[in-house]
Amino acid sequence: MNIAVIGGGGREHALVRKFAESGSVNRVLAIPGNAGMSDVAEVIHGVTENDFEAIAGVCLEKDVEWVVVGPEAPLTEGIVDFLEDEHGIKVFGPRKKEAQMESSKAFTKELMEKYDIPTAKFAKFNDYDEAYEYIEAQGAPIVLKKDGLAAGKGVVVATDMDEALAGLDELMGEGTDDGQIVIEEYLDGEEFSLMVLVNEDYTHSFEMIAQDHKRAFDGDTGPNTGGMGAYAPVNHINESHRTEAVEKIIKPIARGMVQEGLKYFGVLYLGAMVTEDGVKVIEFNARFGDPEAQILLSMMDDDLAQVLEKVYRKEPLTLNWKPGCMVGIMLASEGYPKEYAKGKYVEFGNIADQSYISGLSQDMDGHFLTSGGRVLLVTGHGESVDQAVKAAYDNVAQVNFEDGDLFYRKDIAHRALKIK
Ligand code: AMP
Ligand code: GLY
Repeated sequence: MNIAVIGGGGREHALVRKFAESGSVNRVLAIPGNAGMSDVAEVIHGVTENDFEAIAGVCLEKDVEWVVVGPEAPLTEGIVDFLEDEHGIKVFGPRKKEAQMESSKAFTKELMEKYDIPTAKFAKFNDYDEAYEYIEAQGAPIVLKKDGLAAGKGVVVATDMDEALAGLDELMGEGTDDGQIVIEEYLDGEEFSLMVLVNEDYTHSFEMIAQDHKRAFDGDTGPNTGGMGAYAPVNHINESHRTEAVEKIIKPIARGMVQEGLKYFGVLYLGAMVTEDGVKVIEFNARFGDPEAQILLSMMDDDLAQVLEKVYRKEPLTLNWKPGCMVGIMLASEGYPKEYAKGKYVEFGNIADQSYISGLSQDMDGHFLTSGGRVLLVTGHGESVDQAVKAAYDNVAQVNFEDGDLFYRKDIAHRALKIK
């Protein structure tokens, strides 16, 4: 079969690599793909992920059987509805309505409330003054989230009142759009990411969890980002917490969606917090995590195309996982997640096969130049987490760039390293 992956970041790089390994896949297309994918996929330059008509044209012309959508933006804009309804193309990814699990925090919070899914207490606000009063009454720590997509950046986790009120100005103050915000109780604990394959009431939760590092700087400080590094498995988080997430969160939310008339098909990403009162939902996303996908798909020992077919047919599934541990370090443009410069040279030829490109393009001579905030995920594998961390940072040392062009966290997997 032929498969098209929509998107052009590191997660999509991992998806096309995985499909290229599959015995049942003839051609892999990447639309629009990126400069690192041409050895494993046919990169369709010039068709953006939001140009649904052009994407449909390519898929029909190239006899694509499955389209797999990587990023949230086209899902939220209805790419699945368009390709299925207008062109009869099979797509792995939720339709617009179901993608609200990610695109609307308020929608998802209400669903969780209705079906008794453990999550932080919350309130919604459209009015600045009312939000201000609520924050004053609740006190800090407190969490403010913009409703709608924000690439991991529309969230303020405020530890004191000054931060909370500054956060309110950032999300709702003068000069911002009129959107709604959700204000949440702060949950204390350790986070993990669980990827779940969902087809209405059918769910298969990955047996292996991952941990991302959302803050920009070492020690989990600085602003929230899309993710600065991840690793898997997370052996110090007990399997009982994963099972609890499956039984108390994943299965009931899938049943709840069905009862609401939602037909979810695709990956559901659970961002979970292990608190003193059990595992609670931080967020859902309507797609694979980035950089979790890079790590988990390289640890997965199965044919992903076959896996999708099984989910489509609602067949029982067991996934197999490679031994050891995989760690990924995100190299990002200096300044990210705020303003950053582009067009900086990066050289990583020696470790290209252990890296996933997030934001790099190529010049006429084939040299790589930065084109985004998150630039390159460099991985390392080892028998233990310590060895994997060392392998990953040894690989990072082989990447050449000018001082001050890129930065990365030096403490990826610190929670796992501290435990032993
Ligand atoms: P979200 O976009 O909802 O995933 O939020 C981004 C990050 O902010 C999460 O990965 C958490 O690290 C943090 N966060 C979000 N909500 C909460 C909460 N209620 N309590 C503590 N931390 C949170
Ligand atoms: N790494 C977090 C996310 O993909 O949202």
